[in-house]
Amino acid sequence: MDGNGRWAELRGQPRLEGHREGSASVREVARTARRVGLSALTLYAFSSQNWARPSEEVAGLMHLLREYLESEYSEILDNGIRLNAIGEVDKLPRYVRDPLERLRADSAHNQGMVLTLALSYGGREELVHAAQQLARAAARGELDPERIGEKELEAHLWTQGLPPLDLVVRTSGEFRVSNFLLWQMAYAELYFADMLWPDFRAEAFLRCLAHYQQRERRFGLTSAQLQREETQRAKA
Ligand code: IPE
Ligand code: MG
Repeated sequence: MDGNGRWAELRGQPRLEGHREGSASVREVARTARRVGLSALTLYAFSSQNWARPSEEVAGLMHLLREYLESEYSEILDNGIRLNAIGEVDKLPRYVRDPLERLRADSAHNQGMVLTLALSYGGREELVHAAQQLARAAARGELDPERIGEKELEAHLWTQGLPPLDLVVRTSGEFRVSNFLLWQMAYAELYFADMLWPDFRAEAFLRCLAHYQQRERRFGLTSAQLQREETQRAKA
């Protein structure tokens, strides 16, 4: 979700106004995702690197986050959404962690869409964490290093339990992944929207899902192989 700062600067407003407008996009995109039946939506709300921004901006973002968690409480529960978080959540201030933990616990049994907030999240940080976990298990003698494969590593990622990543959308016209879901992105489709996040609403999101539906995901195979598989599936 990129471009909040530029959205505000273009209007001669403080950056925080862009973040405020961006949280309206979050509400609208999450609602749309639920309406069209997505099983999971993950929002990159705050990166591990964002802590180094000016302290007033960090504090402003944290307050907006708290506001979001409090104002969306009933909407999330009423719609069967399960709220989840990935990242170094312990680093968040108490006034964010408390409403986050409350919503996480109260929505834990919901079976609808999983809404994941990436908070103090970094893809490299996630991989380092997984490597440490595996190394600890090996050092305790509980894990044979020869048996470490993709499945074993994945079991230690913060996204463990989420469905495979299908589509990554980045707004604001930048062509970077900025430390987001690095491992999970291996075979995801990428979509770069030339639009600032506060302007990215339901219509833009639906347009991007329609684009995704036109993609052919080959996972290293050839198009002919996929078509054969498809005909076989149809016959079965
Ligand atoms: C939002 O956009 C991303 C967050 C950290 C919440 P930015 O704040 O990065 O906006 P730009 O890139 O400065 O326009
Ligand atoms: Mg940015």
